[in-house]
Amino acid sequence: MKITFCCTGTKPEPWLAGLRTALPGAEVTVWESGAPAADHAVVWAPPQQFFDEQAGIRGVFNIGAGVDALLKLQMPANATVVRLDDAGMSAQMAEYVCHAVIRHFREFDGYDADIKAGKWSYRKPRERAEFPVGVMGLGVLGARVAQSLTQFDFPVVGWSRSPKELPGVRCFAGATQFNDFLSATRILVNLLPLTPETRDIMRLETLSRLQSGGYVINVARGAHLVDDDLLALLASDHLAGAMLDVFRTEPLPAEHPFWQEPKISITPHTSARTLRDESIAQIAGKIRALDAGQTIVGIVDPVRGY
Ligand code: NAP
Ligand code: GLV
Repeated sequence: MKITFCCTGTKPEPWLAGLRTALPGAEVTVWESGAPAADHAVVWAPPQQFFDEQAGIRGVFNIGAGVDALLKLQMPANATVVRLDDAGMSAQMAEYVCHAVIRHFREFDGYDADIKAGKWSYRKPRERAEFPVGVMGLGVLGARVAQSLTQFDFPVVGWSRSPKELPGVRCFAGATQFNDFLSATRILVNLLPLTPETRDIMRLETLSRLQSGGYVINVARGAHLVDDDLLALLASDHLAGAMLDVFRTEPLPAEHPFWQEPKISITPHTSARTLRDESIAQIAGKIRALDAGQTIVGIVDPVRGY
């Protein structure tokens, strides 16, 4: 079996070593133009030329959960595209989002500023019931995040394409229930995939429906959010703040107004990183299963876009 590795911005050696150990007998090499045809590919942001040359590839394993960039390419019609299914990301995402929610709810930024100014001062405890958290996207990551938030007794609501049942989470589904979901939400967490349906989903019209004093946590993709609309709603005080991990252009350009907005906290697309060992184990297991004719989870539907 031949496996080709084509991951832009990723040091190949540890991946090659890990894949060779997990799949003894497989020939694992870094892709270069003109390389012989492979059976499976491990990819992140490959060039179009990769698929043009590897037209017979059977399995395409994306080393991330989001496949929006991959699906922009013309891929061989018969290839099975597989995304990472958790592989250690849901725990990281739950940590990040719970941290962001708690930091906002408990006003830790305000305490930090007070302490830096040498002030020992108390703020009035806030009512948890007045800070319902809404999680958009209840897939592998969103469901874990929503469940984690219930552990802190926040009211939690969720929204997905198909109806869901999650303990302690009031679930909404589909376009018809979107406005009800938004108006039940004060702290909005985005964990949707980026698809034609979800692009720009956080814009003036939708964010205005959040409860007053709302807060936005975007950990999915930058193109879900209309940047100027967020800035306008922060300026009008309809929104109290935002914590953003993803941006339309990454790295976030130095001249972007988000850098200067004190109500916005920024992290550099790090909320849930690809963990190499977990990812290799998952990909190797799926390659073995596919080659044995078994079904696997995490297959991407290119029409749906995730
Ligand atoms: P997933 O398991 O595929 O879950 C996607 C969820 O979104 C599902 O609940 C799905 O509904 C829902 N959804 C999709 N389209 C929708 C629509 N039009 N309306 C309503 N709901 C819709 O994906 P995941 O593994 O949780 O990952 C989610 C996203 O997180 C990824 O696509 C990626 O962009 C992002 N991500 C970011 C980082 C980071 O470091 N910032 C790391 C990993 C992933 P159904 O359940 O009904 O299908
Ligand atoms: C990271 O953003 C991913 O999609 O895994």
